[in-house]
Amino acid sequence: MKGVIIAGGTGSRLMPLTKVVNKSLLPVWKYPIIYYPLYTLASAGIKDILIISGTGHAGQFLELLGSGKDLGLNLSYTIQDKPGGIAEALGLAEDFADNGKIAAILGDNIYQDKFKEEIKKFEIEENGARVFLKKVDDPERFGVPEIEGDRIIKIEEKPLMPISPYAVTGLYLYDNRVWDVIKKLKPSDRGELEITDVNNFYIEDGTMRFSIVNGWWVDAGTFPSLLKANVLAARDIKDLDFHLE
Ligand code: G1P
Repeated sequence: MKGVIIAGGTGSRLMPLTKVVNKSLLPVWKYPIIYYPLYTLASAGIKDILIISGTGHAGQFLELLGSGKDLGLNLSYTIQDKPGGIAEALGLAEDFADNGKIAAILGDNIYQDKFKEEIKKFEIEENGARVFLKKVDDPERFGVPEIEGDRIIKIEEKPLMPISPYAVTGLYLYDNRVWDVIKKLKPSDRGELEITDVNNFYIEDGTMRFSIVNGWWVDAGTFPSLLKANVLAARDIKDLDFHLE
């Protein structure tokens, strides 16, 4: 299975840090942020990775990571010309995915956990989709799932009144129907193709599964969460060893 890192967005909540530097390249502990989602994929055995970014600072990724060889990875790059949402960005990976399943991760999401078992299991045994949930204090900032037993029955994007204390975090596993799902999406009120609408398709289809994230998870898109990510990575992650096998 191949992987995609979606590193779009203008990083408006982190200005002026993001004026000349892409959000995913800001430092967290010893590394530019994108090293963490790269590691999340690499540690699950995913080596073929497409990095999707916006026009502004796209060259910076290439300068930093090149072919990926130094990290034992095979990296490709593409551009989302205008900010049109996470789902639109993911749609750009259709040819790259080569009709296979895909693991997508957001370029500013940092996980303490590794997901090797879940990702391998999805690759080999499961069809449909899988999302990763984490209990948070501020679910209204995220996609929020309504859970009944072992099923998610709906996800609401940034609800004013969250129905559960869980966030849908920025790691998503999809089968190869995802490309057709994306093509049929309509823009949301904020004018974007929403990843939450992709997930709701799989929920209605009865093929969405979920895992609970045990370790900490940070979406490093705001000043407080960026600070938190630095403190937690320094304490718990220390070094990222990409030479895994
Ligand atoms: C996006 C998704 C949201 C998800 C979050 C995780 O939010 O739309 O469902 O919970 O990433 O980081 P955004 O980064 O657009 O605020």
